[in-house]
Amino acid sequence: MRSLLLFFLIFVYSAVACLYMFTIGIFAPKHRAFIRRISDYFGFRPGAPDLSIPSASLSSIARDDISFRILESESVDGNVTLFELMALVKLSIANASQAIFEIGTFDGRTTLNLAANAPSDGEVFTLDLPRENMGNAQGTISRADRPYINKKTSGARFVGTEYEHIITQLYGDSAVFDFSNYFNNIDFVFVDGAHTYDYLMSDTDRAIKMLRSGKGVIAWHDYGRDNGATRALNDLFNNDARFKNIKRINGTSLVVGFFS
Ligand SMILES: C[S@@+](CC[C@H](N)C(=O)[O-])C[C@H]1O[C@@H](n2cnc3c(N)ncnc32)[C@H](O)[C@@H]1O
Repeated sequence: MRSLLLFFLIFVYSAVACLYMFTIGIFAPKHRAFIRRISDYFGFRPGAPDLSIPSASLSSIARDDISFRILESESVDGNVTLFELMALVKLSIANASQAIFEIGTFDGRTTLNLAANAPSDGEVFTLDLPRENMGNAQGTISRADRPYINKKTSGARFVGTEYEHIITQLYGDSAVFDFSNYFNNIDFVFVDGAHTYDYLMSDTDRAIKMLRSGKGVIAWHDYGRDNGATRALNDLFNNDARFKNIKRINGTSLVVGFFS
């Protein structure tokens, strides 16, 4: 009886809250986002990007029993989710990645975790666009990418940690950065810089060239969002035979490709 009464109170409170959200509350962005989620829940997703790339569970891609460590587990806006972080770390371990290259450092949370799980001779390189250079980047920087570029420092989460010595922080615009020192030298590339179509294409071209003897893993972030990166990855999957086996990982916005 008590639980029925409690449910009734919750029901009335929620109904009044909905009335507010669907009327005056519509002016608040968080309420509009919530309404989109309701529509999504009921299967109405107009304008949702096409997800051509097939999905796979993480356990079908990387063994479930891999041991790993996670540091800095709490994420902030701009980071990958905790599950995505675990997926990236597992993929790097499963691939026995000695040399890792990340495009898009942000606060270095993923960089730190890739370093913490690297073998004893491992090296992690991470490239970031400093905010001073945002205005003269070669390609178009989208409005969505700007807040993550606009920060005081790159890699704050790994600075001063015991893993800093295996991390090399690089600075520059990935469209014009000289990657030639890394060509044919890298086992695992994480592409998470600018998310426009052209940047995704040029970063992927560099990622492929960096793979050691053309072998290794490339992971991309933010697939499935309404951005150029999603359209570019769809085009690569549909039109370029090298990418015909890439998969998105269930429950994430990661796409992963194994190259051999
Ligand atoms: C979403 S954040 C990356 C998040 C990070 N990989 C993580 O897992 O926490 C995107 C980063 O890409 C960097 N970036 C954006 N455009 C870039 C460019 N053209 N070249 C290099 N880095 C870029 C930004 O400065 C920002 O730090």
